[in-house]
Amino acid sequence: MNILVLGNGAREHALIWKIKRSKIVTKLFMYPKSPVFGAEGSEVFSLSLENLNGENIWSHCAVKAKELGVDMVICGPEAPLVEGAEECFRDQNILFWGPSQKAAQLEGSKAFAKNIMKEAGIPTANYQEISFEDNPREQAYQYVQKYGAVVLKASGLAQGKGVFVCKSIADIDAAHEHFASPSMLEASKTIILEECLIGRECSYFALVSGQKSMPLGFAVDFKRLNDGDEGPNTGGMGAYTPVPWLPAHATNIVEQQIMTPLLKTLAKHKIDYVGTLYVGLMWTLEGPKVIEFNVRFGDPEAQVLCFHDDRDWGSLILNSLKPKEDNGAGDEAIQKTTQAPNKVTVGVVMAAEGYPYNTPKQKSAVNPALNQDFGAGKVFFGGVERNGDQLVAAKGRVCTVVFSGSSFEEARAKAYSVVEKYVWPGAVFRRDIAKNIR
Ligand code: AMP
Ligand code: GLY
Repeated sequence: MNILVLGNGAREHALIWKIKRSKIVTKLFMYPKSPVFGAEGSEVFSLSLENLNGENIWSHCAVKAKELGVDMVICGPEAPLVEGAEECFRDQNILFWGPSQKAAQLEGSKAFAKNIMKEAGIPTANYQEISFEDNPREQAYQYVQKYGAVVLKASGLAQGKGVFVCKSIADIDAAHEHFASPSMLEASKTIILEECLIGRECSYFALVSGQKSMPLGFAVDFKRLNDGDEGPNTGGMGAYTPVPWLPAHATNIVEQQIMTPLLKTLAKHKIDYVGTLYVGLMWTLEGPKVIEFNVRFGDPEAQVLCFHDDRDWGSLILNSLKPKEDNGAGDEAIQKTTQAPNKVTVGVVMAAEGYPYNTPKQKSAVNPALNQDFGAGKVFFGGVERNGDQLVAAKGRVCTVVFSGSSFEEARAKAYSVVEKYVWPGAVFRRDIAKNIR
């Protein structure tokens, strides 16, 4: 099959790397361009989509993909999904891994997600939905006075900048000011006021098709910028998988309490979810409670999951997309993993100077050796640009250094030895990813 991966961050680099190893792949394409993905094989092409003249980019992309003979698309980020990419590729009879625009609302609208959870009886934080015009600040003050904390969320997509855990009047005022800023106005038309959950956070990933959910596993992401979970929220500064502190039957619990009722309720609304589902969880004393749904893989969670899992994700995704009798892959075998039972995988994100607020004043060169094959490890690249022969740390999260080992101590020691060896001036990273996991 000819497969196109949409997106050009480190998550998509990991997906390309993984799909490249699938038995179903003939040619790999990517869009948009990245200066590093070609390194995964000469058959990685980019699509040039210049001169759009105001056309819907995804319908244009789908026509182009058809011309190039693309059979299947795997979508990395949420934006194309929310913009209706699935419909555009479906119109061209191209298999598409990612939900429809309607189903993508699970991530695109927190109000929609909360309402579905309520209807399905899925455990989640108690909440109230308030229009920004109705001044949610007053309500929020009352919550803090009564319960000591409240979580305020912009309902729309806010690129990780729409959630505030508030413990004081000052926190609420700061959140309110942010919601009122011009760039947030659209996302914060509706505000969700939520109970502050207490527990340990992790994420669950599954390949979903209609009523079928194929578990991929759990991972933990480090969302805060600084060591000790201090500082501002980011897209994620590191991750590990599996999650040893979860109860033994965590997968069954999540499937029964969350996935089954969710998919049933979506079906009631005539929504057929097809794609990766990311369930952000707080594991509380009462069990899992959903913090959020995302309609895609996490970044950097995808990097550790891809590297950790020895199954053929290309076949797994194709099997989820097509009923078995169609593709004849007979894939019981690929469902089985052969990896060592005590294997763990750790990913450390290295970001550009100024992350998460600013772009770097100076784009430092990234050591070419960082692009080598590390055997038990791999570096996936995101915010890089090419400057002549050199790769430079251009913006945001530049790369994720991923290593596996037989213990978290071993995997993180290997990952950090690469980070320390190749660190560039101004690089931003945490030193405590996957430290003392128990
Ligand atoms: P989100 O953008 O929904 O992933 O939220 C960002 C972060 O805010 C989450 O990863 C949690 O750490 C925190 N958070 C969100 N909702 C809650 C909640 N109801 N209780 C406690 N923490 C929360
Ligand atoms: N790492 C969090 C996310 O991908 O949303």
